[in-house]
Amino acid sequence: MTSRRDFLKYTGAVTLAATQPQLSWAQQTLPARPIPGTDEQLAVIGLGNSQAFRSGDRDSAGQLLEIFLSRGGNYVDVGGSSALVVGELGHSMGKTDQLFLGNYLDPRDDMQDVARSLAGAQHKSALDLVHTRSLEGFRSSHDSYRALKEEGLVRYIGVARTGASGFEAMAGLVDDGLVDFIQVNYSMMEPQAGERLLPLAMDRGVGVAISRPFINGDYFSIIRGHALPEWAAEFDCATWAQFSLKFILSHPAVTCVLTETANPEHAVDNIGAGFGRLPDDATRQRMLAHMRGLA
Ligand SMILES: NC(=O)c1ccc[n+]([C@@H]2O[C@H](COP(=O)([O-])OP(=O)(O)OC[C@H]3O[C@@H](n4cnc5c(N)ncnc54)[C@H](OP(=O)(O)O)[C@@H]3O)[C@@H](O)[C@H]2O)c1
Repeated sequence: MTSRRDFLKYTGAVTLAATQPQLSWAQQTLPARPIPGTDEQLAVIGLGNSQAFRSGDRDSAGQLLEIFLSRGGNYVDVGGSSALVVGELGHSMGKTDQLFLGNYLDPRDDMQDVARSLAGAQHKSALDLVHTRSLEGFRSSHDSYRALKEEGLVRYIGVARTGASGFEAMAGLVDDGLVDFIQVNYSMMEPQAGERLLPLAMDRGVGVAISRPFINGDYFSIIRGHALPEWAAEFDCATWAQFSLKFILSHPAVTCVLTETANPEHAVDNIGAGFGRLPDDATRQRMLAHMRGLA
């Protein structure tokens, strides 16, 4: 378990953040946004399916979860074995109700049984969110997904997909009112979803979780050797990781951004992006131009 002192130690290790006014956020709870059409709030920074969860290393996974949950985080994306590891750890920490777990369930004949069994393993009366990467499968099996909700086995249903080739089909599902949530890649390096899909989701009242905020780590190769622009301080941005996350969070359709890390210091850095000001439209354009200059 990570004590307050450990948390502050990690906070202090993020050198730039420690020199900024943001230091005060070490004592604060992450800002949250509502799941559209509900009173339920999700913290703006979520956790991706970390290697710490996938490896089943309980110490590393527990440390990461403790940091995240102690700042009020809730959404964790849990593919594969992580669904059991995180569910069990959350239970042992007494945080089952705080955790909002994004599960994956492809269409199959025994979806009810699988959902019931997974909910039991996560110590939840109903799974928080069930989604699939199969856009076609979701549409053709929509009745089965909806039945999971109607039977109280699942609270929200949706689809998760990266890559612009899936955006049109995803937009069709959003437009037809079939999904509660979408998970999609969006960032300064991959801005395409911001053009039509995200505005459409906002218009239709669909929750939006963002994947690949750092294009699976390639972002850090792009910015390596470059100083963070001084004007980043104007929106309380202290690090390059926060530069990407604050761009994403300043899109009004975004409910939560999923950050993947196995490193506690990076988790603290990423959580820091949830605090303080966000860039306005003009600054977003400046950020895009700046990144184009680096790439
Ligand atoms: N449904 C799908 O098809 C799908 C596809 C892709 C992604 N996703 C979801 O989206 C999540 C995130 O996307 P992603 O996997 O592309 O990962 P990402 O979050 O874009 O990038 C992760 C990489 O960035 C590094 N990193 C994270 N925070 C950092 C920081 N503050 N400073 C420096 N390096 C940092 C991590 O290394 P360290 O571990 O060393 O920090 C890791 O190498 C995934 O975990 C998954 O949950 C879903």
